[in-house]
Amino acid sequence: MKKLMSLLLIIAIVFVMVACKKQEKTEEPEQKQEQTQESEPESEPEPEPEQTTVEWTRQGIYEDEAGNMLSVVWMDDEDASGWYVGVMLGEDPTEDSYGGVLPQEGNTLRGALPSSGNNGELTVTISEEGEDGLLLAVEAGETYHFTPMGIDEASIQVTINTEGWGNIDYAEGDTAPEFDPEFPFQSADISVFEPGNYTFAAWPQDGYVFVKWTKNGEDFSTEPQITVYLDESADFIAVFEEGEGIDYLALVNKLNPLPDGWEDSLETVTITNSEGDEVEVEAKAYAAYEQLRIDMEENDGIYLELDSARRSVAAQQQIMDDFTEKYGADYAAKTVAQPGYSEHHTGLALDLYFKIKNEDGTFTDVYYNEDMEKPEYTGIWDAIHAKLADYGFILRYLEGKEHITGYRYEPWHIRYVDSVDIAQEIMSQPGLTLEEYLAGASAPEVEIDLAGSELYTEEELNDAMLAVKCKFAAWKGCELHAIRYAGDEANNEENLAWLNSLVEGAEYTQAMELLMDFSTGETPLETMEPDHDYTAYEWWLARTTDGDWEIVSYGY
Ligand code: DAL
Ligand code: ZN
Repeated sequence: MKKLMSLLLIIAIVFVMVACKKQEKTEEPEQKQEQTQESEPESEPEPEPEQTTVEWTRQGIYEDEAGNMLSVVWMDDEDASGWYVGVMLGEDPTEDSYGGVLPQEGNTLRGALPSSGNNGELTVTISEEGEDGLLLAVEAGETYHFTPMGIDEASIQVTINTEGWGNIDYAEGDTAPEFDPEFPFQSADISVFEPGNYTFAAWPQDGYVFVKWTKNGEDFSTEPQITVYLDESADFIAVFEEGEGIDYLALVNKLNPLPDGWEDSLETVTITNSEGDEVEVEAKAYAAYEQLRIDMEENDGIYLELDSARRSVAAQQQIMDDFTEKYGADYAAKTVAQPGYSEHHTGLALDLYFKIKNEDGTFTDVYYNEDMEKPEYTGIWDAIHAKLADYGFILRYLEGKEHITGYRYEPWHIRYVDSVDIAQEIMSQPGLTLEEYLAGASAPEVEIDLAGSELYTEEELNDAMLAVKCKFAAWKGCELHAIRYAGDEANNEENLAWLNSLVEGAEYTQAMELLMDFSTGETPLETMEPDHDYTAYEWWLARTTDGDWEIVSYGY
C-alpha cells in the first residue's frame, strides 16, 4: 500500500504542476488579452482539431512482475485535461518516479515524463497490450509489461488545497510529512482505501504565515500540522495570509531576552517522545529535525529523540528549580538559562537524547546529562554534529566558547536557523558561535594558563574557570583576553576566612583566585570604565562542602 500511495503521490504532484500553470495564467497582464482579441478578426480561422476516434479505455493502476508501478488516470482540468501518467520504476518515490500528462496518439500515449527527483525525464510510449495489460517502452531503454492491480476502488477521496501562498504535504499515519522545499505541493488528491490516520502539514512561503486548516469549509485547526482520521471524503484547505513570521536568526542569550510578541507568529507542533513527555517544537524546525532523525537512523544507526524544545517561562523556572535541587546552583547556572532568557522559549532550540538498540531489539534511552556525556558516546555526538548543518541546525554551546555563549558545552542543544547555507557557514568554522556569526566577527583567542598548581587538578581548575567564563558572558560589550591561575598561595587561612565572611552560613573549604584580562565596550557594567583594558582583574572562588566552586567575589 505504501508504494501505491507513492504512486498516488505522483498523481498529486502532477496536480501541483497544473496549479502552478493556473497561477501563471491568471498573472498574465490584461492588455495582452485585449491585443489578442483585437487581432482575432485578422487571423485565419482555426481548423477544427482532428477528433480522435480511438478511445483510450485503460484507466487504472498497474504493476509488473518486478513490482514497478504505473498509473493512468483521466483528469478533467480546464487548463490541462488529459491522461495523467505516473510511473515508479524502483523503490524510492523521490528518485525513481516520473509523472506528467501524456498526449494520446491513436491508441498509444506518448511523450516525456519528468522525474520527481533529479533524474531528468523519460520519453515513453504506452500502448495497449492484449486483454489485460499495458506496454510501457522507454525510449532507448527497457520495455515493461504492466498488468492491472487488483485493488478496490478507493471509497474515500480527500483533497488538500491552499489559500494564500504556502505549501502543503501529507503522509499516511501520524509521522510528520517530509517536506521538500525544492518541490512544493499546493494541492493534492488522496485516495484512501481504508479509513486511517493521515498527517497534513502546512508551510507558509516567505512573507506569509499559516493561519488555519479548514475542513469542508469550516474552521478545523490552527495547528500547521494535523493528524486526522480519514473515514469519509473531505476537502481540506490550508489558509495562509501575508505576515512576517518569526526571525529564525533571533539571538536569545544571557544578554538578549525572547523578543516581544514572539508567540504571535510562532507555529509549533507537539509530539510525544520515548519517555512519554510531550515536546513542543517550532513547526519548520521539527520538519528539519525529522529529516535529520531519519537520516541518522537509516545511515548511522543512531536513534535520536527530542527531550525538550519550546519552553514557557514557567517551564524554564521549573527546570532551573529542578536542576538546582538535583545538581546544585553552580551547575544550574552554567547549564540552565534564567527564565525569559532561554533560547528554548523560541521553539528553535532542541535538546536531543538518543536510544541505544539492545541485542533483543528493544531500546534503552540515554537521557540524563551525566549519561549522555559519558566518553563512550562521544562518537555518537560527533556523528550527529557532523550532519546538523545539512538540515539547517547548528551546535549552540561550544566547548571553549563559554565566555561568549554563557553556558558550558552541551552536545545535545542544537538550534534551527532555517538555512542550510548559514548553518554550513557557521558549522564549517570550528568554534564559531551564533553570537560571533551575527556580529560578523569571531572573538579573539583567549589565553588560558591554569598551570602551576599542586593543590588542584586540571579538572578542578577548569570547573572553576568555567563558572567564571559563564558569568563573564553576561557582561555586555566586554571582550575576554586571558585567564590565569593566581597560584596555590591564594588558598590560605586568611582568604578562606574572608570568603566565608562574605556569605552568610558559608562553610567553604578552599579558596581559589583566577586573574582575568579583558576590555570593556562603550556601555559596560555600572562599576566599570568604558573602553578600558582591565589587567589581572581578580576572581575569587570558594569550594563548597559538595566540592563545587562558587564565585564569591570579583573586582579590581
Ligand atoms: N540549557 C540552555 C542554556 C537553556 O536552559 O536555555
Ligand atoms: Zn537546551
